[in-house]
Amino acid sequence: MTSVLTLENIVKTFPHHRRVFTAVDDVSLNIQEGTVYGLVGESGSGKSTLARCAMQLMRTTSGRAIFEGQDLGMLAPKALRTVRSRMGIVLQNPVAALNPRMTIGASVAEPLRTHTSLKGQPLQARINTLLDEVGLGAEHAHRLPHQLSGGQCQRVGIARALATSPRLLILDEPTSALDVSVQAQILNLLQDLQQQKGLTYLLISHDLDVVRYLSDEVAVMRAGKIVESGPAEQIFANPSHDYTRKLLEAAPGHGQPGIADSHTFNTQGSD
Ligand SMILES: Nc1ncnc2c1ncn2[C@@H]1O[C@H](COP(=O)(O)OP(=O)(O)OP(=O)(O)O)[C@@H](O)[C@H]1O
Ligand SMILES: [Mg+2]
Repeated sequence: MTSVLTLENIVKTFPHHRRVFTAVDDVSLNIQEGTVYGLVGESGSGKSTLARCAMQLMRTTSGRAIFEGQDLGMLAPKALRTVRSRMGIVLQNPVAALNPRMTIGASVAEPLRTHTSLKGQPLQARINTLLDEVGLGAEHAHRLPHQLSGGQCQRVGIARALATSPRLLILDEPTSALDVSVQAQILNLLQDLQQQKGLTYLLISHDLDVVRYLSDEVAVMRAGKIVESGPAEQIFANPSHDYTRKLLEAAPGHGQPGIADSHTFNTQGSD
């Protein structure tokens, strides 16, 4: 197995009332090629901060983020930008993530213009392919974000993340802002794309059902630390940490099958 992303002893502190607040406290993890690594934990546990450190969108206080064998902290800004084009990120609020005055086509074109030399017809063709891959059509390219539903905007967010053919996608609460019926469709899309393209995901969610549905490995984060990690079936069937047990008990689907085989999520609805 090949490691795509390895985090080694990541620490991230922020100044806080003349003291130091440790948002990420010595986190190490390893994500293997073609797998989904689920990171679960309550609000404020440091999940998004860890994701930003993993992409070096913010400097880590200490520790190393190694992507495809390269220590990202050692790279000059230009080299870091190039490496980052192989890491896509999808954020929670799909509507806010898009420029309201930019057409969908222009939004999808943006990463292509930055990272590739595509222009004219080949650029248009690539935009259409990306829209098609996320279940949208060429007709959406001329629309503005407010003319799309939340689910459709998240599809655009995924198309943007896929534009540079990344190997790793970091999905930070990709369905949290969506209606329940739409969540399942987006999760199914993410699952199909992962399988078709052999992608590697770091999937962040406070929702255990979401993590359970997609993940091969799961890590449970609490107050900046990973308190438990292992194969998904093992964590869900036999949580060894008290905190994980409490999270499982508090989950809405507690005692129920996961999203995949439950009828709580209507996969037929339209987004
Ligand atoms: N730029 C910053 N400056 C100061 N404190 C920050 C900053 N970013 C995050 N924090 C703090 O770090 C902690 C972890 O935040 P983070 O956003 O990583 O949590 P999270 O697990 O992603 O939560 P959520 O589930 O709500 O998204 C929080 O207490 C937050 O207030
Ligand atoms: Mg977050």
